[in-house]
Amino acid sequence: MPSLPPPWDDYLRRIELAASAQELDALEHELFGRKAGALTVALGTLGALSVDEKKVQGPLLNTAKQELTNALMSKRKNLSQTSWQSLETDDTLDVSLDLPEKEHGHLHPIHEFMEKIEEVFGRMGFDSARGPEIESEENNFNKLNIPADHPARDSQDTFWISGMKDHVLRTHTSNVQIRYAQKHKPPFRMICLGKVYRKDSDATHSPMFHQLEGMMIGKDVSLANMKAVMETAVRELIDHNAEFRWRTGFFPFVEPGLEMDMRWRGDESKSREGKWLEICGCGMTHPNVLKNCGIDPNKWQGFAFGFGIERMLMIKHQIPDLRLFYSGDLRFLKQF
Ligand code: PHE
Repeated sequence: MPSLPPPWDDYLRRIELAASAQELDALEHELFGRKAGALTVALGTLGALSVDEKKVQGPLLNTAKQELTNALMSKRKNLSQTSWQSLETDDTLDVSLDLPEKEHGHLHPIHEFMEKIEEVFGRMGFDSARGPEIESEENNFNKLNIPADHPARDSQDTFWISGMKDHVLRTHTSNVQIRYAQKHKPPFRMICLGKVYRKDSDATHSPMFHQLEGMMIGKDVSLANMKAVMETAVRELIDHNAEFRWRTGFFPFVEPGLEMDMRWRGDESKSREGKWLEICGCGMTHPNVLKNCGIDPNKWQGFAFGFGIERMLMIKHQIPDLRLFYSGDLRFLKQF
């Protein structure tokens, strides 16, 4: 084994004793790292030495560099050989060895929740409908009694489809009320789950999110029925002790209109919107909407509601930022 003066002799010894490639990598970095490697630094200071000192130090450092590089190389070769040798001679394949546990995926929490919603409303007699995400202005707005000058149509809120006249990315699932009510004779109960799109983006709004729409039409369906259906469902889906707050709200397709807030569970400082989070708009279906769907408002009446699914989940699991749902981060998704 070559000998070197201190401190390089110590490095040589450590290379000889290294037990793994990682250890060698670390040593190599310690010596030759571009900024702080011990040899890199020593070589860098050569220029500042006197001519006499340079004559001594120059060759010494060059020898050290050469020897240490050789030592690293041969040790590396050595290590890789012994690992192959030991595999060939000592190791036999152990068939009883436990393989790492297989990971099973699961549905995204939003879709898992949507399945649960279908089940809960299904038990209450609600049919589950679907509708398109690219929708005509007619079904998304006009037939829902939303006048042409209503601010919700403003291009700030709505994604219009270029090249497709009078079509939008649906801004809510209420388009499915129209589609369903035109095809089915009352009495009926239906829900619709799906994606909706709005030009909105912050901790509690995303340009794409999911809604749960519901509609129940019958001879004497009332606001009291609506409240009972909604509270029963939310208690079952989120929390049996859920606390609600009802406020009046305006939506052109219901009269009277209401908004349902739910109380944040757990630590209130984690909620970005304070104690109460709005989770739903609802109300008694406007007679004009029934008429637009060919249903006689003098014979039939009922209610409709539209929940934000992410918001329900945010309360259920106390998630402070809805953008976490779309990040694809496994550390988040694996918690469900
Ligand atoms: N469509 C409304 C929204 O997206 C919610 C709503 C649905 C309100 C049904 C009343 C009745 O905000």
